[in-house]
Amino acid sequence: MRKVFTLTLLLILILTISAQANEINIGSCIYRFNDAFMLRFRNAMTEQSDKLGAKITMADGQDDQTTQDAQIDEFISNGVNVLIVNPVDRMASQAIIDKAKAANIPVVFINREPTPEMLASYEKAYYVGAKAEESGTQSGELIATYFKTHPEADKNHDGKLQFILLKGQNGHQDMILRSKYSVEAIKNAGIEPVEIASAIANWDKLQAMNIMNAFAMSIGPENIEAVIANNDEMALGAVEALKANDYNKGDKDLYIPVVGVDANASALEAMDKGEMLGTVLNDSDNQGAAAVKLAVALANGSDINSTGYEITDGKYIWIPYQKVTRGENK
Ligand code: GAL
Ligand code: CA
Repeated sequence: MRKVFTLTLLLILILTISAQANEINIGSCIYRFNDAFMLRFRNAMTEQSDKLGAKITMADGQDDQTTQDAQIDEFISNGVNVLIVNPVDRMASQAIIDKAKAANIPVVFINREPTPEMLASYEKAYYVGAKAEESGTQSGELIATYFKTHPEADKNHDGKLQFILLKGQNGHQDMILRSKYSVEAIKNAGIEPVEIASAIANWDKLQAMNIMNAFAMSIGPENIEAVIANNDEMALGAVEALKANDYNKGDKDLYIPVVGVDANASALEAMDKGEMLGTVLNDSDNQGAAAVKLAVALANGSDINSTGYEITDGKYIWIPYQKVTRGENK
């Protein structure tokens, strides 16, 4: 009797150990938890990890690279099987890659792109994201289409488009390329863009609102023909400032088209109310799912082409952007 009992215990122990050995542990570093788009991204990663039976632990870098570096060290010393990293400073990714390589742990970067040279320095380093220039082009196209189909949008009747640009954090590929390609798209549509003011608002709604309030005061809202924001939170901050100036509240004569990127729920709501012209879907569901599927395949040493996502140049999974408007932009 006693022997059977011991044997059963032993069997249970063995089963538990082997189950634990098979469970993939993902350590994920996020640049900052308090970011509307990254919240969507985190939820998508949690959901996909649950589906695959993997364990994901996330750390809040609090927008500080030193804090994040310590979190990377901790994940590595805790023996995670794979890392998913959203670097605070994408130019600091080399140090992260070097650490992962030394520990022979695969690393999947998300949302903030390391340079191709950095990715090339470790065969187990990858990037999952969306092409920044694509989102810039699409947001510029939204404005250009509106300008062409609404002659009254050219408030000073000079045939040119006087716009304000609200930019994300300095050095971020989405800040650099969205800014560049949105303006480029307006030009390509045959409209001459004139930047009347621009400022960095760090992806942040409140900062954008304060900046836009100051611009409305110094420039006069009647002289602004469009607001192009690198993301929805800043677009929404601009909308708040315009509303405080009695713009974008339903009166057609007091309206400035505002575009963002992400397609956050709050932006879609503002679009439904006619306060914001449009946005570009930054597909967090697919980016989050792809990152976790790739991470788990890498940790298991299985074929990364089995994720169902195309691997480009052996290093990248690119998720497409998509324009989002409500009827008014026809
Ligand atoms: C961008 C997104 C922004 C912000 C940023 C963080 O892709 O559009 O809203 O979340 O990433 O890195
Ligand atoms: Ca004009």
